[in-house]
Amino acid sequence: MVNMLDAIKEAASYIERKITNKPQIAIILGSGLGPLVSEIEENEELDYRDIPGFPVTTVEGHDGKLVYGKLAGKSIIAMKGRFHYYEGYDISKVVFAIRVFKAMGINNLIVTNAAGGINKEFNPGDLMIIRDHIGLFAPSPLRGENIREFGERFPDMSKAYGEELVNLCKDAALKESIVLREGVYAFAQGPMYETPSEIRALRILGADAVGMSTVPEVVVARHADMNVLGISCITNMAAGILDQPLNHEEVIQTAKEAEKNFIALVKRVIHDWEVSK
Ligand code: HPA
Repeated sequence: MVNMLDAIKEAASYIERKITNKPQIAIILGSGLGPLVSEIEENEELDYRDIPGFPVTTVEGHDGKLVYGKLAGKSIIAMKGRFHYYEGYDISKVVFAIRVFKAMGINNLIVTNAAGGINKEFNPGDLMIIRDHIGLFAPSPLRGENIREFGERFPDMSKAYGEELVNLCKDAALKESIVLREGVYAFAQGPMYETPSEIRALRILGADAVGMSTVPEVVVARHADMNVLGISCITNMAAGILDQPLNHEEVIQTAKEAEKNFIALVKRVIHDWEVSK
């Protein structure tokens, strides 16, 4: 079996050979948030299937491609379609792409997702900046031998979502007149939605939103000292908050309705971000 670090480096150099400008920021697009790629100028794409070692997505509403080009004046690379643990991948595959970005020298990451709202003040369609996360129920992507080239064995997670970026995003929302919520994102393995009791438990633990992604990716990004900004689109109220069943169509539909705000916010953030490394 190829060593994980070699596989990461091989994928990184394959992508680097295809790309002229090194991206300054990588963006992971969550469920229903893929249309942002149509805003990327001079865009080119790479199918995950063509990148050595890359997993391939299986979820509806997710394609599997990397789209790169210019957005709001910066060189960016976007993942349209991410890998979820519930799809059956080994957790090291779920976070593979993030490490490939790091190996390409990208140090800035925007992670986005669709999430269920636990905080009762939230409404479907709201955007929420992730202030922190609860990943206690998530498999650790750092389990096993530490890859020292990325970071240390016991990485600090106390400032997983950089305060400067949180403030930059809040200012961006003000400038765009977008209501921006702020809160803690909890990971649930899925693919089943949670029970009302699980949601009550998560609320007691301090969660404002729940979703099936993001935490593993942020953990490896922070292990490798990348700057991380997280944005959730609250696509539904979590189980039991309203007396109605949950479904994936609603998630995709609400994400679509929030698309305009989401795109405006992300573009403004990228525009205002003074990328230093
Ligand atoms: N729970 C978990 N994941 C989700 C939800 C939810 O309610 N909505 C969108 N992703």
